[in-house]
Amino acid sequence: MNYDEQYRQYVAEAEAALKRQTYQCLRKDSRVSDAARYSLFGGGKRVRAVLCLAVCEMLGGSPELAECYAAGVEMLHCYSLIHDDLPCIDNDDLRRGRPSCHKAFDEATALLAGDALLTAAFETLAAARGTARQNVQAVQTLSRAAGAGGMVWGQEQDLYYEAHPEQVGAEQLQAVHRSKTGELIRAAAMLGAIAADAAKEQCAAVGTYADAVGMVFQIMDDVLDVTATEQELGKPIGSDAGNGKTTFITLYGVEGSRQIAGKLTREACEKLEKTFGQRSQFLQTLADRLLHRNQ
Ligand code: IPE
Ligand code: IPE
Ligand code: MG
Ligand code: MG
Ligand code: MG
Repeated sequence: MNYDEQYRQYVAEAEAALKRQTYQCLRKDSRVSDAARYSLFGGGKRVRAVLCLAVCEMLGGSPELAECYAAGVEMLHCYSLIHDDLPCIDNDDLRRGRPSCHKAFDEATALLAGDALLTAAFETLAAARGTARQNVQAVQTLSRAAGAGGMVWGQEQDLYYEAHPEQVGAEQLQAVHRSKTGELIRAAAMLGAIAADAAKEQCAAVGTYADAVGMVFQIMDDVLDVTATEQELGKPIGSDAGNGKTTFITLYGVEGSRQIAGKLTREACEKLEKTFGQRSQFLQTLADRLLHRNQ
C-alpha cells in the first residue's frame, strides 16, 4: 500500500469508529447532538487520528483499540475547534468549508455541542477495549494534554497575548504553540503507543517526534493563514492578523517560518529512522506532507 492509500485507510477506520462512538454518546432527538455531528462529520483531515493509528501500527499494536482512542482524540479536537471559532475567542464564521457551528446553529448550541464532544471523548476512551490500565493511561494522557495545563492553557495564553502583543517573543510564542496545538498532537501519538503497550524508550522516541510534528503543524497553520486561499483552507484566511495575533509570520516571515519548520521536520524524521528504521516510513512521510500541506 502506498502512503496515500494508507492515509485514506486510516481515515476510513477513524470515521467508522467515530460513527460507532457517536451513536453511543450522542442523542438522536437533540439540537445540541445535531450540532456536534455537524461539526464532527463535516470534513477535517483527521491528522490526529491518523497519527494515533500509524504509531500503533508501527509498534505492532491492535488497530481495534487504537481506533477507539483515535475517535476520542478527534472528538476532543473538534470541540476545541467549535469553541475556538466562537465570537468570544477567534470569531471565525467558516470551518471545514462550511459555516462554523455557531453560525449553522447558534452560540449557545455550539457551546454545548463542544461540551458534549469533550465529554464524549472521555466516555469513548473509558469504554475502549483496552485493559483497565491502558484505558486509565489513555484518559490521563488526553486529559493532561487538553486541560488547564495543556490545550486550554495554550488558548488562555493565546488570548492574553492578543491583548498584550508587546510581551510576546520567540519563547512565549513557542510555548503557546506547544500548548494550544502540540500537546494534543503529542497525546494522539501517545495514545497509539498506549494501545500498542509500548516500552518506555519507544514512547520517548514517539514523543520527541510528535513534539516536532506538533510545532511544525501550528507553524504551518500560521503560514497558511497568510498564503492559502479560503477555498483550500476551508476557514477564513487572515484571521490571525485580523485578531492582532503575534504568530510565526509576525516574528519570522513566511520564508523564515518555513525554514524553521523544515529543520524541525528533518530532525524529527532522522531520529525516528534511527529508532524504528524502515517501520517508521509512513510517519516520516506524514511529517513531510504536513510540512508541505496547503489545507
Ligand atoms: C486546526 O487543526 C487547528 C489547529 C490546531 C491548527 P486541523 O488543521 O487539524 O483541522 P482539521 O481537523 O483538519 O479541520
Ligand atoms: C487553534 O489555533 C488552536 C486550538 C486549540 C483550536 P488557531 O486558532 O490558529 O486554529 P485555526 O486556525 O482557527 O484552525
Ligand atoms: Mg485560536
Ligand atoms: Mg482559530
Ligand atoms: Mg490558525
